[in-house]
Amino acid sequence: LESFNKTRVAGSIAAQALDEVAKIVKPGILTSEIDELCYNFINDNGAYSAPLFYRGFPKSCCTSSNHVVCHGIPNEKILKDGDIVNVDVTVWKDGWHGDTSRMFFVGEPSVKAKKLVETTYESMMKAIKILNKETQLGDIGSTIQTFVEKKGFSVVKDFCGHGIGKTFHKEPNILHYGNKGTGPKLEVGMIFTIEPMINEGSFETKILNDGWTAVSKDKKLSAQFEHTVGITEEGYEIFTQSKKGLDSPPYSI
Ligand code: MF3
Ligand code: CO
Ligand code: CO
Repeated sequence: LESFNKTRVAGSIAAQALDEVAKIVKPGILTSEIDELCYNFINDNGAYSAPLFYRGFPKSCCTSSNHVVCHGIPNEKILKDGDIVNVDVTVWKDGWHGDTSRMFFVGEPSVKAKKLVETTYESMMKAIKILNKETQLGDIGSTIQTFVEKKGFSVVKDFCGHGIGKTFHKEPNILHYGNKGTGPKLEVGMIFTIEPMINEGSFETKILNDGWTAVSKDKKLSAQFEHTVGITEEGYEIFTQSKKGLDSPPYSI
């Protein structure tokens, strides 16, 4: 399939960009330095960053730290010891998109922050592992919500995963909450993202005056991971996995 072949290439470049990010995230770095790395890495690989100028977004990746839920804009902010930060990269290569994000530890975060990050990654992977052509859309959200709430955290409802392909964001919406056994069945050939945002406190969010940055209303921590996946005859394929095993922190490199 052309769609799978090309998404595999775009997804791999996006994953490799995050492998590079893992090398530079440490106390004292600016989020704009992460953006520069992403811009350069993507361009050096003959691809384009999809976020750059997307609906007026000014940078090549999103950097969302601590209570920022998603869509943080890279700037002169200095990351400090104990922060957690999500970096979200979307590559456009040869007409197709690959979209992925990971959390990074800046120095040594608190036990609670690390537990939130671990729970968020596990919730995404649990949802991915149930994927096949018989899975219903509601099963994805239900898998994530059940697991996350059992751990005492909450699922953000204001943002969701999405179909992806020649278009960055397309049908269907992939909700990260919901009920098992509801919604349409997945189909072979479907490509979409799963990108749960999980809050330490309440699930409620608000957008800052820059029109992009989404934060938790209670200013408590938020974490997110994202993979682009495809439904196959046998089950699923993850297009954005790290070939270096750097899918979730701590990254010992
Ligand atoms: N990469 C984000 C997603 O997962 C979208 C970012 S849009 C931007 O869908 F404009 F904020 F970059
Ligand atoms: Co993304
Ligand atoms: Co996405």
